[in-house]
Amino acid sequence: MSDSDLRARLGALVDEARKSGDLVALETAWRELVSAATPVQGAIPQRFGIVGDSAKMRALFELLGKVAATDVSALILGETGTGKELVAKALHEHGKRKSKLFLAENCAAVPANLLESELFGHAKGSFTGAHVDRQGHFVAANGGTVFLDEIGDMPLSMQSKLLRVLQEGEVRPVGSNKMIKVDVRIVAATNKDLAAMCKQGTFREDLYFRLNVITLQLPPLRERTGDVPRLVHFFLEKLAGEMGREIGITGEAMAALEAWKWPGNVRELENVIRRAAVFAQGTIVPADLGAPIAPA
Ligand SMILES: Nc1ncnc2c1ncn2[C@@H]1O[C@H](COP(=O)(O)OP(=O)(O)OP(=O)(O)O)[C@@H](O)[C@H]1O
Ligand SMILES: [Mg+2]
Repeated sequence: MSDSDLRARLGALVDEARKSGDLVALETAWRELVSAATPVQGAIPQRFGIVGDSAKMRALFELLGKVAATDVSALILGETGTGKELVAKALHEHGKRKSKLFLAENCAAVPANLLESELFGHAKGSFTGAHVDRQGHFVAANGGTVFLDEIGDMPLSMQSKLLRVLQEGEVRPVGSNKMIKVDVRIVAATNKDLAAMCKQGTFREDLYFRLNVITLQLPPLRERTGDVPRLVHFFLEKLAGEMGREIGITGEAMAALEAWKWPGNVRELENVIRRAAVFAQGTIVPADLGAPIAPA
């Protein structure tokens, strides 16, 4: 049903409700109209727990399946909110190491000296506050995967130490003289241009080559033709579960979402739907999306 048919039908329903005062019947009919306007075609297409069926996402899923089955280091690139962490987890969950740990470290969020102890562990007494020996991620996730998120923010001094670990397959906890053999798969992610950083001297080229055996490039949402409605329905279903009530969306509101460029990608879309669901009275209409997505 087109938006103008929908509006005409709604107008008739409003007139009827005014006469009869039957608001429950009006709401029921309105819900039916909305689901006719934006039908969900069967199950929401997703692979590896990642929603999408656009040509770019299908190509990514194919590569992801192949890379998951191997043990090579993978570098995940993509703008903010495109799902880099989801892909990193999928590589682990669908690979040979899934029975072992997946441990993530955000290299941008931790100061350089702490990062070393987080990743490689430390010996008791090695610095103020180190009251006990502590295992780092590389030892704790032995046999599994270590995900180095925001690798472009890793300080150069730490990059050298990481490279040594990758080359030698063993770590030395801070303040210890004992080397520990480790077998971890490394998956790294960034939204920075590492090749450009290598040219500028802010990222080690040898480490870049080591991490970048395979690149998984996540397309921005604006390039995933047809995926916005799929993601919208996915998030609406998720929210219905959380809020304990169904939430619909009109064709006009969906069109406004499809026209938006999504600089914050899937995360931005999820936040917009979450906020709109709070304002919506059962069904999301353009006004619930707010400016600039649906200017009044
Ligand atoms: N294709 C998708 N299907 C379902 N959920 C998705 C999809 N892509 C991303 N998400 C969800 O969007 C949010 C952002 O994803 P994620 O954290 O993996 O992005 P990111 O690329 O790591 O972002 P950042 O660069 O900001 O760290 C998460 O809540 C994630 O579950
Ligand atoms: Mg992330």
